[in-house]
Amino acid sequence: MTEMQPGRTCLAIILAAGEGTRMKSTRPKVLHEMAGRSLLGHALAAVSAAGADSLVVVIGPDRADVAAEARRLAPQARIVVQAERKGTAHAVLAARESLAEGHGDVLVAFADTPLVRSETFAGLRGALHRGAGVAALGFEARDPTGYGRFVTRDGQLEAIVEHKDADAATRAITLCNAGLMALDGKHALTILEAIGNTNAQNEYYLTDAVEVGRRQGLTTVALIAPEAEVQGVNDRAQLAAAEADFQKRRRLEAMAAGATLVAPETVFFSHDTRIGRDVLIEPNVVFGPGVSVADGAVIHAFSHLEGACVGANATIGPYARLRPGADLAEGTKVGNFVEIKAAKIGEGVKVNHLTYIGDAEVGANANIGAGTITCNYDGFFKSKTIIGEGAFIGSNSALVAPVTIGAGAYVGSGSVITRDVPPDALAVARGRQIERQGWAAAFRAAARARKAAV
Ligand code: UD1
Ligand code: CA
Repeated sequence: MTEMQPGRTCLAIILAAGEGTRMKSTRPKVLHEMAGRSLLGHALAAVSAAGADSLVVVIGPDRADVAAEARRLAPQARIVVQAERKGTAHAVLAARESLAEGHGDVLVAFADTPLVRSETFAGLRGALHRGAGVAALGFEARDPTGYGRFVTRDGQLEAIVEHKDADAATRAITLCNAGLMALDGKHALTILEAIGNTNAQNEYYLTDAVEVGRRQGLTTVALIAPEAEVQGVNDRAQLAAAEADFQKRRRLEAMAAGATLVAPETVFFSHDTRIGRDVLIEPNVVFGPGVSVADGAVIHAFSHLEGACVGANATIGPYARLRPGADLAEGTKVGNFVEIKAAKIGEGVKVNHLTYIGDAEVGANANIGAGTITCNYDGFFKSKTIIGEGAFIGSNSALVAPVTIGAGAYVGSGSVITRDVPPDALAVARGRQIERQGWAAAFRAAARARKAAV
């Protein structure tokens, strides 16, 4: 990739002060989610993966919610408030204390630009390591209106001119500023402090770091990213567009890593979905956060998985729902209309149809008949069901927790089990069957006679 200098520290400053009024939301924009993670979370993850070892999140005033999310995702991050919105350079300077610590590289990221890859941030760092004082990220814009323009000469970045300050010739430039930047830590503070606000918006522009850096004798360079990668999110349509691009990327990654997606465009991943090799994913499968699927597993159509761990060669669905804490060992079979939550399912277990298993442990090779329900909740407390190895639960049984079914035990179909069942025993808990010879024929004859009489 780039000649990264190991040991060179990196401070990342994430601007998260945007109000995001166009989201028409009570939530701030950067807390909206893409692929199960907040936009802020995506930015934090990307800079961290690019080697940022100090993090600062710049938030707007009275944004306890954004601060809480930053603290949750990156407890080590420093959170600073930009009291007044005076421009991107002013926002970066809210992190003055961290800048003064003397880091090797300084990265600036926007919290509303969630698709930037860590490799791209690493690329900006690499430019610094090759001697640049300022490295800015650009893209070829289909419609450059509103963006800052890259003014280049002989491949050198000379300046970034904001749209509102640009003349007609500059506005004709299509190479635009994505907003992200890397600054050499030795010069970052002096550059930022030299930026003024004499421009069309009376703002302190981070983009002026280029001209200021050049004046200070530094090399300033441009790196180019695809437009899709640097797209920002300002409204819900753009959020959906970003989600779509993210999903495209993840599907390609899953396939490149050896999974088969029969209809990739119908499979939705979470930011953290882990898929092994030779996994087969049929159409219309949704992965919520926290799922891992081991090698050789098959996820049949219309399944929804969240917080679940699927063992090697397991088979899930069609129409299965795995909820948080579903932990399925190798070779398990979870069939149609089965829901599993907070349950450890042992090797080779079959739960094939129409079943709810919650707050449970199921031993290896147990067979759970159709329509089995673990009654785990009494309206106040959750209780646990334990099913031993090799047990056989007859169809349409209700296991009223807390209850233990011993290893190798049988539960007769239609039972409501309220007491523990010893290993290798049979438990039947249902009305006893009776037969009356000829009853149906006699009933019909009598009923026909009554009907004929009226
Ligand atoms: C900025 C760039 C522009 C680039 C565009 C890409 C500057 C001066 N301009 O313009 O060259 O083409 O992004 O989308 O940098 N922010 C603060 N505090 C502020 C101002 C901004 O935190 O006082 C944050 C915003 O929340 C946002 C980011 O900085 O996350 C960019 O600000 P925005 O006002 O959207 O900048 P643009 O005018 O779009
Ligand atoms: Ca913007």
